[in-house]
Amino acid sequence: MQTITLNNGVTMPQLGFGVYQIPNEQTAEAVYQAIKVGYRLIDTASIYGNEKETGEGIKRAITDGIVTRKDLFVTSKLFILQAPEEKATQTINQSLETMGLDYLDLYLIHQPYGDVYGAWRAMVSAQKEGKLRAIGISNFKSAKMIEFVGLNEVKPQINQIEVNPWNQRIEDEEWHEKYGVQIEAWAPFAEGRHDLFTNSVLSDIGKKYQKSVGQVVLRWLMQRGAVALAKSVRPERMAENFDIFDFELSQEDLHTIAQLDRKESAFFDHDAPQQVEWFMNRMLETE
Ligand SMILES: NC(=O)c1ccc[n+]([C@@H]2O[C@H](COP(=O)([O-])OP(=O)(O)OC[C@H]3O[C@@H](n4cnc5c(N)ncnc54)[C@H](OP(=O)(O)O)[C@@H]3O)[C@@H](O)[C@H]2O)c1
Repeated sequence: MQTITLNNGVTMPQLGFGVYQIPNEQTAEAVYQAIKVGYRLIDTASIYGNEKETGEGIKRAITDGIVTRKDLFVTSKLFILQAPEEKATQTINQSLETMGLDYLDLYLIHQPYGDVYGAWRAMVSAQKEGKLRAIGISNFKSAKMIEFVGLNEVKPQINQIEVNPWNQRIEDEEWHEKYGVQIEAWAPFAEGRHDLFTNSVLSDIGKKYQKSVGQVVLRWLMQRGAVALAKSVRPERMAENFDIFDFELSQEDLHTIAQLDRKESAFFDHDAPQQVEWFMNRMLETE
């Protein structure tokens, strides 16, 4: 597995498995199967409601001798918090307890709202205590990331943002490189939006290497130096998405893929009032 070294020296797998929208009753099995396929980076979040089942899948893989805890790189995230630092500390401890783990490899501020500075102080303390190996942010636009780096002593190791062929984030990549913050791509397939899996440009590139559209997209992200998270509940697709380390896209392919960029989210704008309203309602539901 290819790895990436973060700005605090911690290394992480470049390709990972995400559990967003996997129903609770399927999550433990999906995580177990993903580890069996070879994934070592597992991504969940408190708001996904499946931290417990994610922990169960991990525990089963360790008990069965497929991996040790050290082989894995486990991520969770805290959602928007009304009361800041102490609440964030409680949330971190709660994530650990729910997942049945002594430490997490990566913990992220899920959304750029609420008291992100108080949450960050709690995360920095937890990192010093050894509860979190790496810490970062998610869904921060580049301007907000720059402000956050500038106003904190410890800078985030990761910013987990939407990156896919429709929303390539080329300029954001440049800003993140400048500030030493690693980009981690969520929804690399844009969850199939705009008919991604049948797109003729991507499938024609795939045919040259006997690879699927999904494999071309993940390979493109690997060659861009991004960490990428793919989700599937089907073991055959998990294996397909993992089988991307035996071919290389040419410069011409990369140039062709660059033409697909729509420079806008395939989902929503994180700053749109109705979206922020939705986040705030989710926050109140989780109180
Ligand atoms: N930080 C954030 O705000 C944020 C937001 C969204 C996502 N994420 C993270 O990023 C991870 C990935 O994003 P995502 O789950 O939203 O979307 P995604 O990985 O872009 O797409 C997942 C969808 O693609 C299908 N799929 C997967 N592999 C396929 C293949 N080879 N061929 C055809 N279809 C395939 C899956 O269906 P099946 O399951 O039926 O195979 C599923 O419907 C999440 O699980 C989560 O960990 C983070």
